[in-house]
Amino acid sequence: MKDRFGRPVNSIRVSVTEDCNLRCFYCHREGEWHRHTKEMSPEEIERILRIARKLDIRKVKFTGGEPLVREDIVEIVERAAKIMDRDVSLTTNGTLLKKYAAQLKQAGLMRVNISFDTMSEEKYERITGLPYLPNVIEGIREAVKFFYPVKLNMVLLRGINDDEIEDMIRFSAETGVILQIIELEAPVEKEQTGFFRKYHLNPKFIEEHLEKIAEKIEYNELHRRRRYIFNFSGKRAEVEIVRPMHNSEFCMNCTRIRLTSDGKLKPCLLRDDNLVDILTPMREGAGDDELLELFKEAIMKREPYWKPER
Ligand code: 5AD
Ligand code: SF4
Repeated sequence: MKDRFGRPVNSIRVSVTEDCNLRCFYCHREGEWHRHTKEMSPEEIERILRIARKLDIRKVKFTGGEPLVREDIVEIVERAAKIMDRDVSLTTNGTLLKKYAAQLKQAGLMRVNISFDTMSEEKYERITGLPYLPNVIEGIREAVKFFYPVKLNMVLLRGINDDEIEDMIRFSAETGVILQIIELEAPVEKEQTGFFRKYHLNPKFIEEHLEKIAEKIEYNELHRRRRYIFNFSGKRAEVEIVRPMHNSEFCMNCTRIRLTSDGKLKPCLLRDDNLVDILTPMREGAGDDELLELFKEAIMKREPYWKPER
């Protein structure tokens, strides 16, 4: 199904919990700004995915909070894998991944993204509040045994990790993962805060640099992004830059709808004012047709956040 702007919707991003075992100071919590309600059960998530599948949404990504703090995450993935035949993936902070990687693969998970902003233990603790960097590195090494691709999400933070780009590229080559350097993101009303002004850094300078030093530049059709290829003593490194802020092209290429952990369809990560509650009607006994209509309503509320003039 296409939205009013002609953008097809082909994937759903499901937050399974707002809970997390870390406290990253920049975290946008997938737009879950301090909600405190009951989470969806695996059965409820499965039912919503079945409705989505009717609209030809065939890809799901689980997020949080931290999805692996849910004890039934393997069951959730298992149920999803039977419905979403194009892609089942998950974004995790990696701290619990060593324990779960094999089980998740077995359940049908296809890919993982792992948040990984720094290779310094001291900086890691400054960012996340907890000393779990060694666990994350173990998690990454375990994940590459089971999944391809494994992508690392590095949120670029001025004065914290902007001096680590080269080390991160080298680490990615060594472990066999793709590095995604992500621009710090916030809605317009938060852009003028001290926090954002202090830490936000436009990754354009990295793009320009990689342009010059990359061995090869490929084009990633799916995300319409360039991928910079490097070679470190025979090992291949791949780097992508994600630049969402004030980027109307980024929004025009957005093909996903979100579901919050308390069961609301969310047309845009950066907006909280146009959610469509699907869980409450479901719990009150709504039929599939009714739920399908709610899905369509949410898709019709989709609107590019960054418009050309913004
Ligand atoms: N800006 C950009 N990326 C963010 N993430 C969390 N908060 C922000 C933000 N404010 C990233 C995390 C994680 C992914 C789900 O979102 O690094 O990898
Ligand atoms: Fe947020 Fe992810 Fe950090 Fe948890 S690990 S605080 S969900 S960015």
